[in-house]
Amino acid sequence: MNSVSPQHSPLIRLRDIGKIFLTDEIETHALADINLEIQRGEFVCISGPSGCGKSTLMSILGMLDTASSGQYELNGLEVGHMGERDRADVRNTEIGFVFQSFNLIGDMTILENVALPLTFRENINKAERRERAMDALTSIGIAHRSKHYPAQLSGGQQQRVAVARALVGKPSILLADEPTGNLDSKSGEAVMQLLDGLHRAGSTLCLVTHDPRYADFASRKVYMFDGRIVDDPGLQEVARIRERASSFKSAIS
Ligand SMILES: Nc1ncnc2c1ncn2[C@@H]1O[C@H](COP(=O)(O)OP(=O)(O)O)[C@@H](O)[C@H]1O
Ligand SMILES: [Mg+2]
Repeated sequence: MNSVSPQHSPLIRLRDIGKIFLTDEIETHALADINLEIQRGEFVCISGPSGCGKSTLMSILGMLDTASSGQYELNGLEVGHMGERDRADVRNTEIGFVFQSFNLIGDMTILENVALPLTFRENINKAERRERAMDALTSIGIAHRSKHYPAQLSGGQQQRVAVARALVGKPSILLADEPTGNLDSKSGEAVMQLLDGLHRAGSTLCLVTHDPRYADFASRKVYMFDGRIVDDPGLQEVARIRERASSFKSAIS
């Protein structure tokens, strides 16, 4: 699928996103009035108390789930109302996802795990898949463990492999939902250094973390509370520009 990608439009644009979960006739309003734009090359961090909707928002951004209301534009393409096949295509090419619990497949080698997303792509043969997966492993310094199985690696190494798997398909954005949540502080720091390096090299990142040390790696911090965005410097900047423009207009009229 070819997506239109006008470079001037934001990579991600969420408008009035809401999400309601229905379980046993109980409605949970997990997200309300979410307006968020992410530009190419940004490193956005989302923080907020447990249960405020961070993972729900990440699942929608990652096209693992759909919103109950609102619009989601990714790379200039409205993806909120796509059919399942198109969604899977876009997800596979545009999104890299890293979970708190690594989610590597236990009976596949490290190399096979990293190559896996490429098997759903057309026009990439086995040798090329292998080469690209090896390149990704080399870039995170784990190429020498390529024939090992996930259980033979430390948690920190497994999470770095998960980052390599998320990146092997060269997605437009890397989404990481508490990627350091299951790691000791030293391994967590190594994963954060890896993400920071990716950002410096030009990748677009969106990270959920409740650790302020890690949030400081981000170029923009967004806070959520009770299903809503309560503080976003990106929005504040837009408001400031609008305010300046309107006071300029009144000064010259
Ligand atoms: N699949 C689901 N079914 C029902 N309720 C859910 C589901 N996923 C999340 N929720 C509810 O939505 C709210 C937000 O959850 P979540 O996004 O996981 O928060 P966070 O990641 O910030 O801790 C919570 O009240 C949670 O219980
Ligand atoms: Mg969560």
